[in-house]
Amino acid sequence: MAASSASSSMMKTSRRALVRRTRSHVTTRCATTAPASPATLSAKNEGKGKRVMIVGGDGYCGWATSLHLSARGYKVAIVDNLCRRSFDDQLGLNSLTPIVGIHERVRTWGELTGNDIELMVGDVTDYEFLGESFKSFEPEAIVHFGEQRSAPYSMLDRSRAVFTQYNNVIGTINCLYAIKEFAPDCHLVKLGTMGEYGTPNIDIEEGYITIEHNGRTDTLPYPKQGGSFYHLSKVHDSHNIHFAAKAWNIACTDLNQGVVYGISTEETMIDERLINRLDYDSVFGTALNRFVIQAAVGHPMTVYGKGGQTRGFLDIRDTVQCLQIAIDNPASKGEMRVFNQFTEQFSVNELAEIITKAAPKVGLSPEVINVPNPRTELEEHYYNAKNTNLKDLGMQPHLLGDNIIETLLQYAVQYKDRCDKTLIMPSVSWKESGSKVVTHGNVKA
Ligand SMILES: NC(=O)c1ccc[n+]([C@@H]2O[C@H](COP(=O)([O-])OP(=O)(O)OC[C@H]3O[C@@H](n4cnc5c(N)ncnc54)[C@H](O)[C@@H]3O)[C@@H](O)[C@H]2O)c1
Repeated sequence: MAASSASSSMMKTSRRALVRRTRSHVTTRCATTAPASPATLSAKNEGKGKRVMIVGGDGYCGWATSLHLSARGYKVAIVDNLCRRSFDDQLGLNSLTPIVGIHERVRTWGELTGNDIELMVGDVTDYEFLGESFKSFEPEAIVHFGEQRSAPYSMLDRSRAVFTQYNNVIGTINCLYAIKEFAPDCHLVKLGTMGEYGTPNIDIEEGYITIEHNGRTDTLPYPKQGGSFYHLSKVHDSHNIHFAAKAWNIACTDLNQGVVYGISTEETMIDERLINRLDYDSVFGTALNRFVIQAAVGHPMTVYGKGGQTRGFLDIRDTVQCLQIAIDNPASKGEMRVFNQFTEQFSVNELAEIITKAAPKVGLSPEVINVPNPRTELEEHYYNAKNTNLKDLGMQPHLLGDNIIETLLQYAVQYKDRCDKTLIMPSVSWKESGSKVVTHGNVKA
């Protein structure tokens, strides 16, 4: 499929077709099916009916979080314009796992568990749509996952860079205005990224740093050095949230999330129609998940450059846990609280090594290759980021061990026939990003 004028038409699409307030309130309940919610009995009422709007609830983190909260007694509404699915169509990509449509996902969840999830299909850059969603659902918390989240996608060409910043920055400003106008007590839980900080040669604090300068001291937002137009959209979001929280007395939590790995949470595994997406291509696939899939399909693991790039990582089971903790322990009004949401740090070389060691247990013997780095980033650097705030609130991390790698490898092997190996090699160069729209049918290298 030609991706010609993809992003400009996509922007128009997001402002027209997708945004026609085509709200679909899917509240199917199947009274004949015995509840199969995997949350334990004690956990089932943890949410006490708290109304949580999940923007981006059809995506990788959002879908798992929606089910996790719904299983635990929160009242969940998913708001999503399904643009992530359209990026796959534009660029000829696919999830390794076979994901069904959002309506079928939500209906299946209702039938299997008796828990209704409300579904509103629309675009948060459309303020009228968002305002109507707020008025009808009356959220007590809004989790904002709903952004274009791929660094390579944002570097494909000028129009994708513009789309990414427009979509992300305007969507977040709209959420802030909607809270101010329709739900002033609603807590905004916004997904940022550890990538906002870059790789400074000093320890990374959680959001703020106390600086002494010319004899005076102040605690200020930690300096940000985003490494792509995507990461910079998150930096701009953080500044906008910081300002609006103070100006309008809004409670905000900015979650600087590390790279998420894994596929299964308790809820996404109860039926194949609830399975989460798993990206392996070079545009949307992320470090650990991609290496696991490469190992499973017999492709060498692609280490970019020297492989000393170090980042924070976390299991998707910890993403959903952290979100619940943030919702249950809201920020104070007028505050932008920042949590660094990751559990462990690894370099790319270390990830490849961990997978190489675990792979023989499932009959695989992957190779590693160093490929030219398509990104502009340091390949060897100091990295030490704090992550104590969520642990202090009770987060119990699932650390990366052989078991999780083996389980992931087994999943990847199960679906390996769905993998288009030509999508694996890096295809988007930071240096070559140009104003000409990438129009070929896909982004194969
Ligand atoms: N996956 C990771 O490893 C990771 C790491 C750090 C931070 N994050 C952040 O977490 C969030 C979720 O990431 P993900 O991996 O689930 O991404 P994803 O692309 O799978 O999901 C994002 C969802 O948001 C929706 N969306 C995007 N723009 C929208 C708009 N304008 N209106 C309505 N819906 C919109 C998409 O259709 C998609 O379903 C993102 O903000 C991302 O930046 C993710």
